[in-house]
Amino acid sequence: MISWSGLTQTFEYSSGDVASPLGYRLCSTRLGRARATIRAGIIESVSSRRGTFITFEGLDGCGKSTQLERLAVVLRSRGVEIVATREPGGTATGERIRQLLLDVRTAGLDPHAELALMFASRAQHLREVILPALAAGQVVLCDRFTDSSEAYQGGGRKLGSAAILDLHRILCGGLQPDLTILMDSDVGSSVERARRRNRDRSPDIADESRFESENRAFFTRVHNAYLEIAKREPQRVLLVDARGSAEQTHGKIVDLVLARMNVPVEPRRTRNAG
Ligand SMILES: Nc1ncnc2c1ncn2[C@@H]1O[C@H](COP(=O)(O)OP(=O)(O)OP(=O)(O)O)[C@@H](O)[C@H]1O
Ligand SMILES: [Mg+2]
Repeated sequence: MISWSGLTQTFEYSSGDVASPLGYRLCSTRLGRARATIRAGIIESVSSRRGTFITFEGLDGCGKSTQLERLAVVLRSRGVEIVATREPGGTATGERIRQLLLDVRTAGLDPHAELALMFASRAQHLREVILPALAAGQVVLCDRFTDSSEAYQGGGRKLGSAAILDLHRILCGGLQPDLTILMDSDVGSSVERARRRNRDRSPDIADESRFESENRAFFTRVHNAYLEIAKREPQRVLLVDARGSAEQTHGKIVDLVLARMNVPVEPRRTRNAG
Protein backbone atom coordinates (compact mmCIF):
# COMPACT_ATOMS: atom_id res chain seq x y z
CA MET A 1 0.00 0.00 0.00
CA ILE A 2 1.36 3.44 -0.87
CA SER A 3 -0.38 6.53 0.42
CA TRP A 4 0.34 10.16 -0.34
CA SER A 5 -0.58 13.27 1.58
CA GLY A 6 -0.24 16.69 -0.04
CA LEU A 7 3.23 18.04 -0.75
CA THR A 8 4.70 15.71 1.78
CA GLN A 9 4.51 12.19 0.49
CA THR A 10 3.97 9.43 2.96
CA PHE A 11 4.40 5.95 1.70
CA GLU A 12 3.95 2.76 3.53
CA TYR A 13 4.92 -0.74 2.55
CA SER A 14 2.96 -3.57 4.00
CA SER A 15 3.44 -6.58 1.75
CA GLY A 16 5.34 -7.64 -1.34
CA ASP A 17 8.06 -5.71 -3.13
CA VAL A 18 7.06 -2.22 -4.18
CA ALA A 19 9.16 0.23 -6.16
CA SER A 20 9.40 3.47 -4.17
CA PRO A 21 9.04 7.01 -5.48
CA LEU A 22 12.83 7.32 -5.12
CA GLY A 23 13.34 4.39 -7.42
CA TYR A 24 14.67 1.99 -4.83
CA ARG A 25 12.87 -1.07 -3.63
CA LEU A 26 11.88 -1.71 -0.07
CA CYS A 27 11.73 -5.48 -0.07
CA SER A 28 9.15 -5.69 2.67
CA THR A 29 7.35 -8.89 3.49
CA ARG A 30 3.91 -9.47 4.93
CA LEU A 31 5.51 -9.06 8.33
CA GLY A 32 7.55 -6.02 7.37
CA ARG A 33 6.27 -2.49 7.67
CA ALA A 34 8.24 0.70 7.19
CA ARG A 35 6.92 4.21 6.86
CA ALA A 36 8.87 7.05 5.35
CA THR A 37 7.91 10.66 4.83
CA ILE A 38 9.45 12.28 1.78
CA ARG A 39 9.50 15.89 0.67
CA ALA A 40 11.21 16.92 -2.55
CA GLY A 41 12.74 13.48 -2.86
CA ILE A 42 14.29 13.61 0.60
CA ILE A 43 13.44 11.21 3.39
CA GLU A 44 12.18 13.31 6.29
CA SER A 45 11.27 10.67 8.78
CA VAL A 46 11.32 6.93 9.07
CA SER A 47 9.09 5.18 11.52
CA SER A 48 7.05 2.08 12.30
CA ARG A 49 9.89 -0.25 11.56
CA ARG A 50 9.71 -3.78 12.83
CA GLY A 51 13.37 -4.72 12.76
CA THR A 52 16.16 -3.66 15.09
CA PHE A 53 19.01 -1.41 14.11
CA ILE A 54 22.26 -1.89 16.03
CA THR A 55 25.42 0.04 15.24
CA PHE A 56 29.05 -0.42 16.32
CA GLU A 57 31.19 2.62 16.89
CA GLY A 58 34.65 3.45 18.16
CA LEU A 59 38.18 4.35 17.14
CA ASP A 60 40.07 2.60 14.36
CA GLY A 61 41.27 -0.77 15.57
CA CYS A 62 39.13 -0.90 18.73
CA GLY A 63 37.61 -4.20 17.51
CA LYS A 64 34.27 -3.21 15.94
CA SER A 65 34.39 -5.61 13.00
CA THR A 66 35.64 -8.46 15.20
CA GLN A 67 32.83 -7.95 17.69
CA LEU A 68 30.11 -7.41 15.10
CA GLU A 69 30.96 -10.73 13.46
CA ARG A 70 30.96 -12.54 16.78
CA LEU A 71 27.64 -11.04 17.83
CA ALA A 72 26.14 -12.03 14.47
CA VAL A 73 27.16 -15.65 15.11
CA VAL A 74 25.49 -15.64 18.53
CA LEU A 75 22.27 -14.03 17.31
CA ARG A 76 22.01 -16.31 14.28
CA SER A 77 22.44 -19.33 16.54
CA ARG A 78 19.36 -18.07 18.39
CA GLY A 79 17.33 -17.90 15.21
CA VAL A 80 17.60 -14.14 14.65
CA GLU A 81 17.74 -13.00 11.01
CA ILE A 82 20.78 -10.77 10.71
CA VAL A 83 21.93 -8.34 8.05
CA ALA A 84 25.58 -7.49 8.74
CA THR A 85 26.81 -4.44 6.91
CA ARG A 86 29.29 -1.56 7.13
CA GLU A 87 29.98 2.09 6.44
CA PRO A 88 31.27 3.63 4.42
CA GLY A 89 30.14 0.96 1.97
CA GLY A 90 27.46 -1.70 2.28
CA THR A 91 26.28 -1.31 -1.33
CA ALA A 92 28.10 -1.58 -4.66
CA THR A 93 28.16 2.21 -5.00
CA GLY A 94 29.04 2.66 -1.34
CA GLU A 95 31.99 0.29 -1.61
CA ARG A 96 33.39 2.38 -4.47
CA ILE A 97 33.00 5.49 -2.31
CA ARG A 98 34.68 3.59 0.55
CA GLN A 99 37.72 2.89 -1.61
CA LEU A 100 38.06 6.55 -2.40
CA LEU A 101 37.62 7.62 1.23
CA LEU A 102 39.93 5.12 2.90
CA ASP A 103 42.67 4.77 0.32
CA VAL A 104 45.82 6.51 1.52
CA ARG A 105 46.41 7.68 -2.07
CA THR A 106 43.36 9.96 -1.82
CA ALA A 107 45.42 12.99 -0.86
CA GLY A 108 44.25 16.50 -0.02
CA LEU A 109 40.55 15.66 0.31
CA ASP A 110 38.68 18.67 1.69
CA PRO A 111 36.91 17.85 5.01
CA HIS A 112 33.57 18.97 3.56
CA ALA A 113 34.09 16.76 0.51
CA GLU A 114 34.95 13.90 2.87
CA LEU A 115 31.75 14.51 4.83
CA ALA A 116 29.65 14.68 1.66
CA LEU A 117 31.09 11.39 0.42
CA MET A 118 30.37 9.71 3.75
CA PHE A 119 26.73 10.81 3.51
CA ALA A 120 26.49 9.86 -0.16
CA SER A 121 27.47 6.33 0.81
CA ARG A 122 25.08 6.41 3.77
CA ALA A 123 22.07 7.63 1.79
CA GLN A 124 22.54 4.82 -0.70
CA HIS A 125 23.08 2.28 2.07
CA LEU A 126 19.94 3.37 3.88
CA ARG A 127 17.73 3.07 0.84
CA GLU A 128 19.24 -0.09 -0.58
CA VAL A 129 20.00 -2.12 2.52
CA ILE A 130 19.03 -0.74 5.94
CA LEU A 131 15.43 0.35 5.39
CA PRO A 132 14.42 -2.79 3.47
CA ALA A 133 15.93 -5.01 6.16
CA LEU A 134 14.20 -3.11 8.96
CA ALA A 135 10.93 -3.22 7.04
CA ALA A 136 11.32 -6.98 6.78
CA GLY A 137 11.75 -7.27 10.53
CA GLN A 138 15.44 -8.19 10.42
CA VAL A 139 18.19 -7.17 12.80
CA VAL A 140 20.69 -4.90 11.10
CA LEU A 141 24.21 -4.91 12.54
CA CYS A 142 26.07 -1.97 11.07
CA ASP A 143 29.80 -1.31 11.42
CA ARG A 144 29.79 2.51 11.82
CA PHE A 145 26.94 4.93 11.06
CA THR A 146 26.31 8.67 11.52
CA ASP A 147 28.03 8.79 14.93
CA SER A 148 31.26 8.09 13.03
CA SER A 149 30.69 11.19 10.91
CA GLU A 150 30.02 13.23 14.02
CA ALA A 151 33.17 11.88 15.70
CA TYR A 152 35.57 11.92 12.71
CA GLN A 153 34.39 14.80 10.54
CA GLY A 154 32.63 16.75 13.32
CA GLY A 155 35.29 16.19 16.00
CA GLY A 156 38.43 15.00 14.22
CA ARG A 157 38.15 17.40 11.26
CA LYS A 158 36.61 20.13 13.45
CA LEU A 159 33.47 20.62 11.34
CA GLY A 160 31.32 20.53 14.49
CA SER A 161 28.26 18.43 15.26
CA ALA A 162 25.56 20.74 13.88
CA ALA A 163 26.42 20.20 10.20
CA ILE A 164 26.45 16.43 10.65
CA LEU A 165 23.14 16.35 12.52
CA ASP A 166 21.55 18.57 9.85
CA LEU A 167 22.77 16.33 7.04
CA HIS A 168 21.57 13.29 8.92
CA ARG A 169 18.11 14.79 9.24
CA ILE A 170 17.94 15.82 5.59
CA LEU A 171 19.53 12.77 3.95
CA CYS A 172 18.71 9.99 6.40
CA GLY A 173 15.35 11.11 7.77
CA GLY A 174 16.97 11.27 11.20
CA LEU A 175 16.93 7.47 11.44
CA GLN A 176 18.49 6.55 14.77
CA PRO A 177 19.83 3.14 15.73
CA ASP A 178 17.87 1.35 18.43
CA LEU A 179 21.16 0.59 20.08
CA THR A 180 24.73 1.75 19.54
CA ILE A 181 27.64 -0.16 21.00
CA LEU A 182 30.37 2.43 21.51
CA MET A 183 33.59 0.53 22.08
CA ASP A 184 35.74 2.62 24.35
CA SER A 185 39.47 2.13 23.97
CA ASP A 186 42.78 3.94 24.36
CA VAL A 187 43.71 6.12 21.43
CA GLY A 188 47.30 4.89 21.07
CA SER A 189 46.77 1.17 21.40
CA SER A 190 43.70 0.84 19.19
CA VAL A 191 45.07 2.92 16.34
CA GLU A 192 48.37 1.02 16.54
CA ARG A 193 46.39 -2.24 16.31
CA ALA A 194 44.64 -1.01 13.16
CA ARG A 195 47.97 0.04 11.64
CA ARG A 196 49.50 -3.37 12.41
CA ARG A 197 46.47 -5.13 10.90
CA ASN A 198 46.79 -3.05 7.73
CA ARG A 199 50.53 -3.71 7.47
CA ASP A 200 49.92 -7.46 7.83
CA ARG A 201 47.22 -7.55 5.15
CA SER A 202 47.90 -9.36 1.91
CA PRO A 203 48.72 -7.03 -0.99
CA ASP A 204 45.46 -8.08 -2.71
CA ILE A 205 43.36 -6.33 -0.05
CA ALA A 206 42.64 -2.68 -0.70
CA ASP A 207 44.68 -0.13 1.23
CA GLU A 208 42.36 1.35 3.87
CA SER A 209 44.83 3.32 5.95
CA ARG A 210 44.02 6.95 5.14
CA PHE A 211 42.46 7.67 8.53
CA GLU A 212 45.00 5.59 10.43
CA SER A 213 47.73 7.89 9.18
CA GLU A 214 46.22 10.80 11.15
CA ASN A 215 48.00 11.96 14.30
CA ARG A 216 47.21 11.43 17.95
CA ALA A 217 45.57 14.86 18.38
CA PHE A 218 43.09 13.95 15.63
CA PHE A 219 42.14 10.67 17.30
CA THR A 220 41.88 12.34 20.70
CA ARG A 221 39.30 14.73 19.22
CA VAL A 222 37.47 11.76 17.67
CA HIS A 223 37.47 9.95 21.01
CA ASN A 224 36.17 13.02 22.88
CA ALA A 225 33.42 13.56 20.31
CA TYR A 226 32.30 9.94 20.79
CA LEU A 227 32.16 10.43 24.56
CA GLU A 228 30.05 13.57 24.06
CA ILE A 229 27.57 11.60 21.93
CA ALA A 230 27.34 8.93 24.64
CA LYS A 231 26.70 11.62 27.25
CA ARG A 232 24.02 13.25 25.09
CA GLU A 233 22.19 9.99 24.26
CA PRO A 234 22.71 7.54 27.11
CA GLN A 235 19.59 5.53 26.24
CA ARG A 236 20.79 4.70 22.76
CA VAL A 237 24.57 4.68 23.15
CA LEU A 238 26.04 2.04 25.45
CA LEU A 239 29.68 2.55 26.29
CA VAL A 240 31.56 -0.76 26.42
CA ASP A 241 35.10 -0.94 27.75
CA ALA A 242 36.98 -2.61 24.86
CA ARG A 243 40.45 -2.61 26.46
CA GLY A 244 40.31 -6.27 27.47
CA SER A 245 40.64 -9.37 25.32
CA ALA A 246 38.31 -9.91 22.36
CA GLU A 247 36.63 -12.67 24.37
CA GLN A 248 35.99 -10.43 27.38
CA THR A 249 34.57 -7.66 25.21
CA HIS A 250 32.39 -10.17 23.36
CA GLY A 251 30.88 -11.36 26.66
CA LYS A 252 30.00 -7.79 27.65
CA ILE A 253 28.41 -7.02 24.29
CA VAL A 254 26.33 -10.20 24.19
CA ASP A 255 25.01 -9.52 27.71
CA LEU A 256 24.05 -5.96 26.79
CA VAL A 257 22.41 -6.84 23.50
CA LEU A 258 20.45 -9.82 24.80
CA ALA A 259 19.23 -7.70 27.70
CA ARG A 260 17.89 -5.12 25.23
CA MET A 261 16.45 -7.52 22.67
CA ASN A 262 13.72 -10.04 23.02
CA VAL A 263 15.70 -13.08 21.85
CA PRO A 264 15.71 -16.60 23.29
CA VAL A 265 18.46 -17.09 25.84
CA GLU A 266 19.19 -20.66 24.72
CA PRO A 267 20.74 -21.31 21.30
CA ARG A 268 18.37 -22.72 18.68
CA ARG A 269 18.59 -26.50 18.35
CA THR A 270 19.47 -27.75 14.92
CA ARG A 271 17.30 -30.48 13.39
CA ASN A 272 19.98 -33.09 13.78
CA ALA A 273 20.82 -32.21 17.35
CA GLY A 274 20.00 -34.99 19.76
N1 LIG B 1 40.32 -7.16 22.21
C1 LIG B 1 41.31 -7.31 21.33
N2 LIG B 1 42.59 -7.46 21.75
C2 LIG B 1 43.60 -7.56 20.86
N3 LIG B 1 43.45 -7.52 19.52
C3 LIG B 1 42.21 -7.36 19.04
C4 LIG B 1 41.07 -7.24 19.92
N4 LIG B 1 39.96 -7.08 19.15
C5 LIG B 1 40.38 -7.09 17.87
N5 LIG B 1 41.71 -7.27 17.80
C6 LIG B 1 42.56 -7.27 16.61
O1 LIG B 1 42.86 -5.89 16.35
C7 LIG B 1 42.77 -5.60 14.97
C8 LIG B 1 41.68 -4.56 14.75
O2 LIG B 1 40.40 -5.15 15.03
P1 LIG B 1 39.15 -4.82 14.11
O3 LIG B 1 39.53 -4.90 12.68
O4 LIG B 1 38.02 -5.66 14.59
O5 LIG B 1 38.93 -3.30 14.55
P2 LIG B 1 37.95 -2.23 13.92
O6 LIG B 1 37.45 -1.42 15.07
O7 LIG B 1 36.96 -2.89 13.05
O8 LIG B 1 38.98 -1.37 13.07
P3 LIG B 1 38.64 -0.34 11.87
O9 LIG B 1 37.97 0.84 12.48
O10 LIG B 1 39.99 0.02 11.32
O11 LIG B 1 37.78 -1.09 10.89
C9 LIG B 1 42.51 -6.91 14.26
O12 LIG B 1 43.74 -7.43 13.83
C10 LIG B 1 41.87 -7.77 15.34
O13 LIG B 1 42.12 -9.14 15.13
MG1 LIG C 1 36.57 -2.67 11.01
